[in-house]
Amino acid sequence: MKYILTQSTQHLKIPSIKVTRKLFPDQELYLKIQNSIKNQPSTLISNILPQNILEFLFTVNAVRHMGANIKQIIIPYLAYARQDKIFSHGEALSAEVILSLLENLKIPITIYDMHSEMLKAKYSFDYQSLLPALLKQIPKNNFIVISPDKGGIERAKKIAKLLKAQFKVISKQRIGNAVFMQFKGNVEGKHILIVDDIISTGETLVQAAKVLKSHGARDIYCIASHGLFVKNARQKLERSQIKKIVVSNSLPIKSSKKIQVIPIEPSIK
Ligand code: R5P
Repeated sequence: MKYILTQSTQHLKIPSIKVTRKLFPDQELYLKIQNSIKNQPSTLISNILPQNILEFLFTVNAVRHMGANIKQIIIPYLAYARQDKIFSHGEALSAEVILSLLENLKIPITIYDMHSEMLKAKYSFDYQSLLPALLKQIPKNNFIVISPDKGGIERAKKIAKLLKAQFKVISKQRIGNAVFMQFKGNVEGKHILIVDDIISTGETLVQAAKVLKSHGARDIYCIASHGLFVKNARQKLERSQIKKIVVSNSLPIKSSKKIQVIPIEPSIK
């Protein structure tokens, strides 16, 4: 099997076909696959990010023109899956645009921990999760598993089931960039495992930890599939009341004191 990576997955330790990319002075992208892969089965591993959609499509196009057979596409992290419904009249349904585009490629696609649970029924891709692999890095405690919002209930429930643990959900409201949380339930003296798909600004986790601690929670751990860590998220989380956060390297990030990054290569190859 030949592996082709886009720039978004270059950090993965997977030997891959050489691809040249250049920007013309007007910022148009030029892309060329350097090694011949004619008639060879190949797998494209690429994140879908706001800035790389053309690079991704050009790569598929170049591979096809070279006469290679793309057996599958693996998408460790798929952006734009959070806008999965029209929350307010006039909005674009971004997740639909991206998923339809992928569907139209007519190639088997595996997506890891896609945010939208709702759209999984509409688009028949292969949906996989990195969370069980991340869970192995969490000490074996008697946990209460927490979803930090309603949207993450199914995801967190699966982990609670694996652990045979109790499950609870926080009620979350976003107003602009601020996150407000309310929690009803008894976590007094209990170890907590928060399960999420994405850590972006880190506000969800910081506020979840605060509200759980205010209810007497003991040690708080978190597993989250994708670490975007935008702005000062990492510093906020290092200062937070969370004891340990385990994320995957679907995105190019490094471990730090509280944040442990687990390679996805064994799960996806
Ligand atoms: C939201 O619905 C997601 O599951 C994550 O909880 C969210 O994207 C995390 O964002 P942030 O780290 O900015 O709070």
